[in-house]
Amino acid sequence: MNKRLNSISELISRSTLNHESSIVVFTGAGMSAESGISTFRDQNGLWENHRVEDVASIEAWDRNRALVLDFYNQRRRQLLQVKPNKGHEALVNIEKGFPNLQVITQNVDDLHERAGQTNVLHLHGQLRTSRSTGPGQEVYHINGSELSMGDTCSNGFQLRPNIVWFGEMVPAFEEALSIVSQCDLLIVVGTSLAVYPAASLLNYVSAQTDILLIDPNEPSFRGSKHIYHFPAKASHGLVELARLLMS
Ligand code: OAD
Repeated sequence: MNKRLNSISELISRSTLNHESSIVVFTGAGMSAESGISTFRDQNGLWENHRVEDVASIEAWDRNRALVLDFYNQRRRQLLQVKPNKGHEALVNIEKGFPNLQVITQNVDDLHERAGQTNVLHLHGQLRTSRSTGPGQEVYHINGSELSMGDTCSNGFQLRPNIVWFGEMVPAFEEALSIVSQCDLLIVVGTSLAVYPAASLLNYVSAQTDILLIDPNEPSFRGSKHIYHFPAKASHGLVELARLLMS
C-alpha cells in the first residue's frame, strides 16, 4: 500500500538531501495538462477522439500514413500554442539548487525545455522532430507544425514522427534505467504508470530511495516500501516541493 501524504513536508523534512544529491523527476501527460494538452487515459479511453492504437502504433502507420501524419500535425499545432505551466517552472527552480536534477519524461512535447530545464531525457520521442524511415533513422528538426507525405530524408526515405509507438523498442530506456538506479529521490508526476517499460523504471530505484508520486489520482503502481502519494495537480505539488527543497 502506498503511503498517502497530507503534506510533502512530511517526507522532505526527514530527508538527507544535499545540493550534490541526485534528484530524478519522471513525468507523464499530467505534467502538461495544466498547459492545455490533454492526457491519454482520462477521456473515455480516447485520445483527442482517436483510439491510441489507431494513431500511435506501427500498425497504424502501415495502414494509413496520411491519418497518422495529420494526427501528429494537429498535436504539433496545439503544442505551438501552449506554454510551460507553473509546475515546469518549479522544476527549473529546483534545478537551481540541485544541479544534478534529471528529468525523464514520457511526454513528447518540449515544455520542460521551453521552461528552461537543462537535463531532459525523452523516453517516447519528441513531437518537434521527425525520423527517417530509412536504415539510418536520421532525426531532423521540424520547422513549424507540418510533416507531410513526400517529405523525405536526404536519402529519399519518407520522414515519420519521431515518436516511440506502441509495439516499438524504447531506445532511451537503458539510459533511463541507469539514471534511476543511482538517484537519491525519485519524483513521479502526472503519469498513470500504465505503460511499460516506462512504468517499470520505479522498480530500479535502490531500496533506500524514496519515491514521491504527485498526481490527483493514485497511480495503480505497487512494489516499493518507500512510495508516497501526494494527491495534487502538478503545479500545486511542484511549487510546494520547490519551496521545501529550496528553503
Ligand atoms: P495517462 O493519460 O495514462 O495518465 C495521466 C495521469 O496524469 C493520470 O494519472 C492523471 O491522474 C494525471 N493528471 C491529470 N491531470 C493532472 C494534473 N493537472 N497534474 C498532475 N497529474 C495530472 O498518461 P501517461 O501516464 O503519461 O505514449 O501515459 C503514458 C504513455 O501512454 C504516453 O507517453 C503515451 C501514451 O500512450 C506515447 O505516446 C508513446
